[in-house]
Amino acid sequence: MPVLPAECLEESDPRFARLDEVIERYGRNPSALIQVLHEAQKLFGYLPEQVQMRVARRLGLPVSHVFGVSTFYALFSLRPVGRHRIQVCMGTACYVKGGEQLLADLQERLGVGIGETTADGRFELQAARCLGCCGLSPVITVDGDVYAECKPRLLPAILKKYD
Ligand code: FES
Repeated sequence: MPVLPAECLEESDPRFARLDEVIERYGRNPSALIQVLHEAQKLFGYLPEQVQMRVARRLGLPVSHVFGVSTFYALFSLRPVGRHRIQVCMGTACYVKGGEQLLADLQERLGVGIGETTADGRFELQAARCLGCCGLSPVITVDGDVYAECKPRLLPAILKKYD
């Protein structure tokens, strides 16, 4: 599978020490769980199981509670996400003007399916319903940057802009 595999994090990973500092900053207060998870996600890019377990242990909460909160809020991700998010519009106006070809080209070029992240963690590919600029169709966005009247031949130059 071409998606980024779940990380097995070393205990010596410096991000754990930074996470501990965050937890201490909140006085190990269980009611700071959401803030701690938010900062943990900033450090790791998502909330791996090991991170949730550590947060639970340090805040004195059941792991099931931390997992419940992590899965409840849409702002938390339990899987690695790409550094850059590509959205290809598949709304009617974009679809009829070549949105499908753009999506197919990106899937082949990046080696991922819809909703997947490239093995190097660089891009996440999404299909969107309508990006709200139908007059510019077909449209893709990368990290919110709009590329209007996009064509497959323009994709290499667009992707190159995002490390
Ligand atoms: S259909 Fe693509 S922006 Fe609306």
